[in-house]
Amino acid sequence: MYGAGTTMDRVWVGALVVAALVCVFQAPFTAAQSGAPFDVRIACGSNTESYAPDTGHLWSRDMNYTGGSSGNLTTISRIAPQLNTIRYFELSDGPENCYNVSVPNGQYLIRMYFSFGDKDNSGREPEFEVSIEGTLVYTLNRGWSTVVDDEYADSLAHILDGAATVCFHSSGHGNPVVASIEILQVLDNAYDMGTSFPSTNFILRTVKRVSAGAEKSGYGSSLQADPWGGDRYWATDQTLFTPGSAVSVQTTVSNITKYSNPPNVYPQAIYQSATTTGPTNKLSYTIPVTPNQNYSVWLHFAEIEPDITGPNMRVFSVSANGQPLFPVVDIVKMAGGSLTALVLNATVLVEGRTLTLTFEPLAGTISVNAFEVYQLITREQPTSADNVWALQRMKQNLELPARLGWNGDPCIPQVHAWYGVNCEFEATVGAWFINGLGLDYQGIRGQLGDSIVALQRLQSLNMSNNLLTGVIPDAIGNVSTLTTLDLSYNRLNGSIPASLGQLSKLQELLLNDNQLTGEVPSSLGSFPIRGGMLNLANNDGLCGLGLRSCNNMSHGMKTGIVFAIVGGFIILVLGGYLCWKRRMNMIRGAQRLPRDAPYAKARTTFVRDVQLARNVLANHFSRPAPSYTDTTPLNPH
Ligand SMILES: *[C@@H]1O[C@H](CO)[C@@H](O)[C@H](O)[C@H]1NC(C)=O
Ligand SMILES: *[C@@H]1O[C@H](CO)[C@@H](O)[C@H](O)[C@H]1NC(C)=O
Ligand SMILES: *[C@@H]1O[C@H](CO)[C@@H](O)[C@H](O)[C@H]1NC(C)=O
Ligand SMILES: *[C@@H]1O[C@H](CO)[C@@H](O)[C@H](O)[C@H]1NC(C)=O
Ligand SMILES: *[C@@H]1O[C@H](CO)[C@@H](O)[C@H](O)[C@H]1NC(C)=O
Ligand SMILES: *[C@@H]1O[C@H](CO)[C@@H](O)[C@H](O)[C@H]1NC(C)=O
Ligand SMILES: *[C@@H]1O[C@H](CO)[C@@H](O)[C@H](O)[C@H]1NC(C)=O
Ligand SMILES: *[C@@H]1O[C@H](CO)[C@@H](O)[C@H](O)[C@H]1NC(C)=O
Ligand SMILES: *[C@@H]1O[C@H](CO)[C@@H](O)[C@H](O)[C@H]1NC(C)=O
Repeated sequence: MYGAGTTMDRVWVGALVVAALVCVFQAPFTAAQSGAPFDVRIACGSNTESYAPDTGHLWSRDMNYTGGSSGNLTTISRIAPQLNTIRYFELSDGPENCYNVSVPNGQYLIRMYFSFGDKDNSGREPEFEVSIEGTLVYTLNRGWSTVVDDEYADSLAHILDGAATVCFHSSGHGNPVVASIEILQVLDNAYDMGTSFPSTNFILRTVKRVSAGAEKSGYGSSLQADPWGGDRYWATDQTLFTPGSAVSVQTTVSNITKYSNPPNVYPQAIYQSATTTGPTNKLSYTIPVTPNQNYSVWLHFAEIEPDITGPNMRVFSVSANGQPLFPVVDIVKMAGGSLTALVLNATVLVEGRTLTLTFEPLAGTISVNAFEVYQLITREQPTSADNVWALQRMKQNLELPARLGWNGDPCIPQVHAWYGVNCEFEATVGAWFINGLGLDYQGIRGQLGDSIVALQRLQSLNMSNNLLTGVIPDAIGNVSTLTTLDLSYNRLNGSIPASLGQLSKLQELLLNDNQLTGEVPSSLGSFPIRGGMLNLANNDGLCGLGLRSCNNMSHGMKTGIVFAIVGGFIILVLGGYLCWKRRMNMIRGAQRLPRDAPYAKARTTFVRDVQLARNVLANHFSRPAPSYTDTTPLNPH
């Protein structure tokens, strides 16, 4: 359906196509949502914008992604043949990388084209996973690149937070790679599955979308479909049947009524062809699926056979894996006439690896125009917004290395939570909260920052053995759930905030081997008594907590100095007097001695005494200093 590009100016083609779409599609139906749908098409890895030669669609340059490198595509995209680049994410970019694109809230068809080049994966097919809005939707297992439907994967998702987030999760087998992402708005109430399956609770992953009896496969845009349908891809079923099988194709050029009847907005073309059978013949389609999942099945009918003009002339049943979906379908009766579209939907649980749709005649023969099968993927609940904010700020403040990732939602998909982040789900709030951070031994150089106070469920923080600088934020005393705080072996300076004493649940406080100074707040005094583990060793400037009272010590030192000076003075005076006396004696004995010798000796002695005192103190308080380095609970329960 995509012929050779014209030599006309692409912009002109684009304008013409847009104008044509407006003329053709505004007229025949009343859309439930006015105006043009929002759409954004991203040419991954490309730094220029371009227009698709046949559809006139604008493809934006690569934007709103985290990490990654760009490479060249070796296969041609069917959707946009002018695209020739990809984006791929190496492990050094982190295990989670995302596109985050601002869009108005609403329902979207999100389609990706997966392909790989040579530079990105040395020609080997990578295996990885893809999530949409934090919910795991695609697993690209070995062999995906040989299955056309897996290459052009699409899903329907409601965007509720103002941005469409698509994340690529590395499984360690090659670099995740993507060639294009289309985010195309559809009607909010399209694909309403009834009250048992509220559509905002699910992401609908397209398993199969078939236009029965169609000559060839095509996209909505090539079928002159309403753009509110999201440019869906309709595969022909003609390749499924062996020549000579008991099926035939029925087509019409007549107009179909209600083909675009919101919320069911479909291309007219899918109703203008049908696969039919001979009398008494069943018709079956067998579709490979993931077992033990619910599937939403959408069936499209329109009576296009001129001979069938009234009810009861064609009646059949539809079942899925033997379970009846629609026991009695009479197209003319249910649609209200011939050449009129009828859309039926039902949800079915499939236990095995295939879903077989069977149409069985009750009167007359079978006629099927189109069908769609979607896997219902239950959406994961997001992480609480304030917790996300806090971690994003920490990522900045701590200057986390790219290899840690920390992109997308911290807790979901659950199987791809951020490195070092532990989460707990709180059902009453319907959100995930961070209850543990383990970033020990990561070579982190930044600062802790105040934002940690927003982690109101944080129980354990271990950032030992890094190169953290700056102070321990006062705000940490407001994280009242903390039971373990290990900031040992860093380069933290400043004093220990007194607010730590407010943490009544704190069991382990390890601040040893930093450059902390000043007095240990007296609020920590009760800490070992209530059974906590406290280690403050190897902070040269630290003092207090009844072990070595900094103020008293310096006071004592002053006293010592005063005593020493006074003592020295006395010694000097005494010595001088003695000396004088002796000199007098010596003069008397006709001998001379240097005048300043006694003074010099006294001063030397004094300096040595002070040094000695310092050494004694230093030895007494340096590692290991069991007197106040309690690494075993005093009061274990
Ligand atoms: C992609 O192809 C262009 C020219 O076609 C070339 O200049 C560029 O270096 C290639 N990029 C990579 C990553 O191979
Ligand atoms: C994505 O990029 C576009 C263009 O650079 C920008 O206008 C838009 O605000 C960005 N959206 C987000 C969510 O960052
Ligand atoms: C799909 O079927 C359910 C009932 O099973 C119905 O409530 C809903 O309106 C149908 N959706 C559409 C779009 O026709
Ligand atoms: C179908 O409807 C259009 C107007 O919507 C009309 O121009 C055209 O002639 C109709 N085609 C047939 C075969 O009736
Ligand atoms: C399928 O839907 C039923 C409700 O009809 C629900 O009870 C069941 O948990 C769903 N199964 C899965 C795997 O989602
Ligand atoms: C996506 O971008 C928006 C706007 O820039 C931002 O508020 C939001 O946190 C981002 N979401 C993710 C998952 O990164
Ligand atoms: C923090 O991590 C370090 C290094 O992995 C480990 O030795 C230490 O036991 C952890 N601290 C706590 C309180 O578990
Ligand atoms: C911590 O709590 C105290 C008292 O509730 C409050 O005054 C202070 O602003 C809080 N600090 C931060 C950083 O939230
Ligand atoms: C802590 O160290 C930083 C340099 O890493 C310095 O700028 C700051 O003044 C120090 N703060 C204190 C209280 O010593």
